[in-house]
Amino acid sequence: MKAIIPTGGRGTRMQPITFSNNKHFIPIANKPLIFYPIETIAAAGITEIAITYNPGWLNIVKTFLGNGSKWGVKFTYILQEKPLGLANIFQVCQDWLAGEPFLLHLGDNIFADGIKDQVDRFLDKQPDGMVTMVEHPENTRMGVPYFDKRGRLIKYVEKPKNPPHKFAIPGLYFFTNTVFKCFTGKDKIKPSARGELEINSPFQWLIDHNYRVDVMEYKGKWLDPGKFDDWIEANQYLLDRNLKHHDFSQHINQNIVIEGRVQIGKNVTLENAHIRGPVSIGDNVVIKDSYIGPFTSIDKGCRIENSSIENSVLMQDVVIRDIDEAIDASLIGTATEITGNHHDPKISFFLGEKTRLNL
Ligand code: G1P
Repeated sequence: MKAIIPTGGRGTRMQPITFSNNKHFIPIANKPLIFYPIETIAAAGITEIAITYNPGWLNIVKTFLGNGSKWGVKFTYILQEKPLGLANIFQVCQDWLAGEPFLLHLGDNIFADGIKDQVDRFLDKQPDGMVTMVEHPENTRMGVPYFDKRGRLIKYVEKPKNPPHKFAIPGLYFFTNTVFKCFTGKDKIKPSARGELEINSPFQWLIDHNYRVDVMEYKGKWLDPGKFDDWIEANQYLLDRNLKHHDFSQHINQNIVIEGRVQIGKNVTLENAHIRGPVSIGDNVVIKDSYIGPFTSIDKGCRIENSSIENSVLMQDVVIRDIDEAIDASLIGTATEITGNHHDPKISFFLGEKTRLNL
């Protein structure tokens, strides 16, 4: 069995941060988002993974991910020329798949409890297609399964206005080679109103042509950090879940307090700092005269002085200095500087498009 992870898409819901970054490489709990699906797939025992990319991204994606050996897998990079939808992702991988069954795992979904049970079930029962479902309060912005009285999947609707229940289909899709029939012939699947081959279409095609599509409930924790609030929540959840207790006696003196679960990278300078975990601090970070509160991840090269921050994600090389108010629930892009000036009652900004400030 093979796997596909897409890295394309427009990232509209995560603007402005996605004007200059591919969403899949923005960190959550100090790890690029896409590393989570890679780890999950590798842990399920799949070793051949296609990474699809949109024009212009190959070098960046390759530099980030390499050949897969870091995870014990092999990556093949495949171009998706236009963002023509999720069904088009595996369509462009058809030659590479060479007839094998496969799964498509969206690069911005996290199945925190792994997908091994799902992979095993698919291989064991051998349906033509399989999806998972999760209970979700906001399923109007997702794919939704509809069942008949006997519990068989009869319809799969993308973002319905009035779903009949609270279940959604997350971004993990299983297929056999049969699915490629949906791209040919008179009744082949058509693009939606927004011009994309949506992911529900190939499944609906299989159902309508009497092929077997199974649904398996995902009982573990699923995270969908598609927008800002969800990103902060996913960061909270993963820091809480993944950080372990460490011994920091070598860092601690009378001016430094480290409480709870904290991860500290190499060459970190702490002076008069109070850190309360769960907190993850990357390499070459400087924290002086500051408080870092729970659920904060601080990427490489950041510098925090005379400030207080919690429940936030700081990307690389962020500088925060002399801010009187506590910074909370923030996602701060690479090399951003936020500085205060106690002697001047005015404030000054140099902000990009679609920036959000809450003062
Ligand atoms: C996509 C899929 C949707 C799925 C969701 C999960 O939506 O089209 O069916 O439920 O991912 O993240 P998008 O996030 O592209 O709006």
